[in-house]
Amino acid sequence: MATKLETETLIEVLRDADRIAVLTGAGISAESGIPTFRDKNGLWKKFRPEELATPTAFNQNPRLVWEWYDWRRGIIAQKEPNPGHKVLARWEKIFPALSLITQNIDGLHQKAGSRNILELHGNIWKLRCTKEGTITENYETPLKDIPPLCSGCGAILRPHVVWFGESLSSTILQKAFLLSSQCEVMFVVGTSAVVQPAASLPFEASEAGAKIVEINPDPTPLSPYIDFSFRGKAGEILPLIDKDLKRKSTAQKE
Ligand code: OAD
Repeated sequence: MATKLETETLIEVLRDADRIAVLTGAGISAESGIPTFRDKNGLWKKFRPEELATPTAFNQNPRLVWEWYDWRRGIIAQKEPNPGHKVLARWEKIFPALSLITQNIDGLHQKAGSRNILELHGNIWKLRCTKEGTITENYETPLKDIPPLCSGCGAILRPHVVWFGESLSSTILQKAFLLSSQCEVMFVVGTSAVVQPAASLPFEASEAGAKIVEINPDPTPLSPYIDFSFRGKAGEILPLIDKDLKRKSTAQKE
């Protein structure tokens, strides 16, 4: 856990920084009640990704895959952003250039008010036509028809998310690497930092000279390389950092 002195140093660094990047993972939504993937009760401890989150699984059994996503949409629909999401939304207003890069598909950053978001793995509230590639927003839960069909051409719709074995959007990925290489501080919040290419972004940032701040109750493979470590929950640590930031800016005005 960062000491008081380290926290004060971080606040100084933040006060001088213009470009801040934040990389989030499932852990930031854990306190909202959305299960992570690799924790004790994580989704990948109960379900097999190869049966539910690959193009092959979808081709073989679209109904099963859709039932799983419909179930997850039902859980997410009832959840609200937590204080961690809210602090990041506030920071978008106070830092000249804050970019939020998320691996999450739950849409809670948007619900908290963040606008400048790069969704690396897609969004569970968007559906994509398997034939035409058109993307539509859909908040119906439970879905009336499983699998849902395209209103334009009648083909099956799929969740607009990235599955195992699929590539991320090259436009989004290039932008994420660019923002990482240009930021002065990168926060890495609630990710096990094992899934590529997202796991490379903090290294990109660090090699370009950025300070890396990790917020996670548990160590990750990234932990040995970071500058500031906060061992705790995002919904508690981010508000604490935010409080110190506010205190500092009030003190400077006086
Ligand atoms: P993981 O489930 O792999 O990791 C969640 C991380 O959050 C762990 O390191 C936890 O220690 C941490 N954590 C748990 N509670 C937390 C809290 N309250 N505050 C902060 N951290 C907390 O999730 P991701 O790293 O997001 O991909 O997983 C990456 C990708 O793997 C996902 O986007 C998904 C999955 O397969 C796709 O579906 C393509």
